Amino acid sequence: MSQKVANRSIVFYNSQSPPSVITEELDLGNCFSPSELVVKIHAAALNPVDFLLQGFAYSWLVGKGPKGFSRDYSGEVVKVGANVKDFKVGDKVSGLFQHLYGKQGTLCDYLILDPSKQPAISKISPVGHPEYDDYVINASWALVFGTAYQALHNYGQNLGPDSKVLVIGASTSVSNALIQIAKNRMKIGTVVGICSKKSFEYNKKLGYDYLAAYDDGSTVENVKQIMKNNMGNEKFDLIFDSVGNSEFFECINDVLKDKCQNSHYVSVTGDKKLNYSNPRIRDSLPGWESIRRIGPFRKYNYKLLLLKPEATFAKIGSEMIAQKQFVPAVDSVYAFEDYSKAFERLKSNKAKGKVVIQISQ
Ligand SMILES: NC(=O)c1ccc[n+]([C@@H]2O[C@H](COP(=O)([O-])OP(=O)(O)OC[C@H]3O[C@@H](n4cnc5c(N)ncnc54)[C@H](OP(=O)(O)O)[C@@H]3O)[C@@H](O)[C@H]2O)c1
Repeated sequence: MSQKVANRSIVFYNSQSPPSVITEELDLGNCFSPSELVVKIHAAALNPVDFLLQGFAYSWLVGKGPKGFSRDYSGEVVKVGANVKDFKVGDKVSGLFQHLYGKQGTLCDYLILDPSKQPAISKISPVGHPEYDDYVINASWALVFGTAYQALHNYGQNLGPDSKVLVIGASTSVSNALIQIAKNRMKIGTVVGICSKKSFEYNKKLGYDYLAAYDDGSTVENVKQIMKNNMGNEKFDLIFDSVGNSEFFECINDVLKDKCQNSHYVSVTGDKKLNYSNPRIRDSLPGWESIRRIGPFRKYNYKLLLLKPEATFAKIGSEMIAQKQFVPAVDSVYAFEDYSKAFERLKSNKAKGKVVIQISQ
């Protein structure tokens, strides 16, 4: 039976086009296959990767049609195909919808997805947050939690109470998830974070043991001081970079344990900081030096992480939220109509947590 609704989406066309809204008619009765479900989106969060992808969207490469923004979402299942097993109409869900220049993003009223192909989807756990409703909170974690979870687990690490982790970019949303997984679930003994001086208090409350400033003297020397004064000069088992930093490579043997001790350097950004207002693809590609790091004669274990959508992290994130071990960080919430302000806020590179767009109440 046909059931026509209006479906608004925030889209871009190419690297030069500003984000804009298109509205198309969608027939909810016929728009999904037997393996798909339809989610009525309540909230969706922005991610810097969308700026990067749009910056590289030359029409000759990606075509002229509209491309959807964003990946994180929360909402309610309104249609379920006959072959979908684990979800039913009325379920409240959140997840990560992975796409590359797809017409569908998550800044829209209705999202059609096949859960066997988009496995990072879970039922929403009630949060009881004092400020934000469950949809806003649950739109704020899948991508950053998944990235942090994979950085801590996917390379054969065995991190625990005796381990030492250095986080470059302690205030980013990815690191916000990482510190909560590290401390509340994995019970990692020592986590040192690098952030601006004004963010010390914010990050201390999240569980960082020690903090080093990147805007007060030499970052590397500040970290070495902490190692000397507080860690008995012991080196790190994991250095995690969520900013784009290359300062530690020159003295890697002073800060990272030997590779035979299963130590790792994991970056989610490459060596250069992404300029959110003017992203350039070459800043996030591995340079010659980083290619040498992954070659057979590497002196240390280096990984440039690209998030893989997996059911595991969606399940664990949802469990941690239910058990109050993980509280996703929300920086700000904007109404659908104010999407331009939301983009500007993320571009400021000052957000502490996710910038969320509320699509419906
Ligand atoms: N590879 C992947 O699969 C993947 C997945 C997710 C994200 N990422 C990338 O990870 C990066 C972080 O994303 P996000 O959404 O977590 O970022 P975000 O939340 O937008 O990060 C903003 C924070 O960065 C901090 N910051 C700014 N300049 C800094 C610097 N020079 N050194 C240290 N901290 C600095 C600021 O806090 P202060 O007050 O401390 O300055 C600010 O609060 C982005 O480049 C994103 O594209 C990659």
